[in-house]
Amino acid sequence: MGRTGTCQESSVTLNCSEDNLQPPARLAVTEQPGRVGAKKKLWDRWDSVHSAAPTGKNDHCSPVASKSNSYVVAVINQKGGTGKTTTTINLSAALAYLGHRTLMVDLDPQAHTTIGIGVDPDAFIESMAEVMSVPRKPIAEIVLPTYIMGLNLAPAHIHLAHVAEQIYTRVFRETILAQALQGLDYDFIFIDCPPSLGVLTINALYACDFIVIPCQISRYSLDGLADLLTSIEIVKNLSIQDLFQGDHFRVLLTMFDPRNKVTNQYILDELRPYKEKTFAAVIRRNESLNQAQIAQKAIFDFDFDCIGSQDYQQLALEFLNLYHRRTGLPVEDKVLNAQGNQSTSLEG
Ligand SMILES: Nc1ncnc2c1ncn2[C@@H]1O[C@H](COP(=O)(O)OP(=O)(O)OP(=O)(O)O)[C@@H](O)[C@H]1O
Ligand SMILES: [Mg+2]
Repeated sequence: MGRTGTCQESSVTLNCSEDNLQPPARLAVTEQPGRVGAKKKLWDRWDSVHSAAPTGKNDHCSPVASKSNSYVVAVINQKGGTGKTTTTINLSAALAYLGHRTLMVDLDPQAHTTIGIGVDPDAFIESMAEVMSVPRKPIAEIVLPTYIMGLNLAPAHIHLAHVAEQIYTRVFRETILAQALQGLDYDFIFIDCPPSLGVLTINALYACDFIVIPCQISRYSLDGLADLLTSIEIVKNLSIQDLFQGDHFRVLLTMFDPRNKVTNQYILDELRPYKEKTFAAVIRRNESLNQAQIAQKAIFDFDFDCIGSQDYQQLALEFLNLYHRRTGLPVEDKVLNAQGNQSTSLEG
């Protein structure tokens, strides 16, 4: 399987040396000039958060209790190509290698997570399309193992696109996935969403305890973020203050290229309202991540030492610490210690 470094089959040792945990250089955030268009919406939201008194509810937990015994994480951005699938596969794989039983739910008819982890869409008969249909197939009956021990997959098929159209006519249509996940017993369930705010994504929002929003660092990357946050508020029945005061979501910066200083500065300026809601871990642009997807492997098995592998390891540690803080559930000491060596938010 060509695995290198210290990532060993089914042992839980990821190479978490201090060297690997250093985040890429952060850019200082400066006063930003005029704010226009979609970007202004972000700042308007920020202003309204800080002009209203906190309500005090929903401080620590999801307002919608997990529909599953597992910690359910939706990976969402209605923009295409922001790194949702890459993040689903590599964060899930990292957690599985760290010893956590993890399920990836491929909720995208493109089936990129399914293909990306090495499962041939013609090699299974039933998929999330049948789970989301009437009559509903129990999800446990479509789950497949992957080549990584502890990492399972609920595969997608192109038929899911047709099923999504039919879902619009059903009552309680936004709760179908939450019901399907009931009774599953994993440590983590990651849902890879399609690039839209349609009924599949709304199902993922309803079912999840936490939301990861991968944002590619590019000129238009933050367009639509305000709309996405509004959807979260509506589906989760959260006020904007609650959304920001609870740990309900994190933005993940992806495809970071330190050479693009002007673009990076622009994005960080625009993201300033979300500084506390942005993972300190940043995923740098790295060709190996592309190649790993073509090779249908997690990055740790394709090139353990590349920066893509390092960045996703760092993200996994930060994610586990956040999970620990939020749920009070235990994570290994070495994870807590490793995280203690890092900064936890963008410096500004
Ligand atoms: N950090 C990175 N460096 C280089 N290439 C990357 C990186 N992250 C993702 N890619 C590549 O960018 C492309 C889009 O990534 P990905 O499929 O994860 O995005 P997505 O948000 O799931 O897309 P979609 O909206 O179509 O589902 C893929 O070819 C992937 O290999
Ligand atoms: Mg995708």
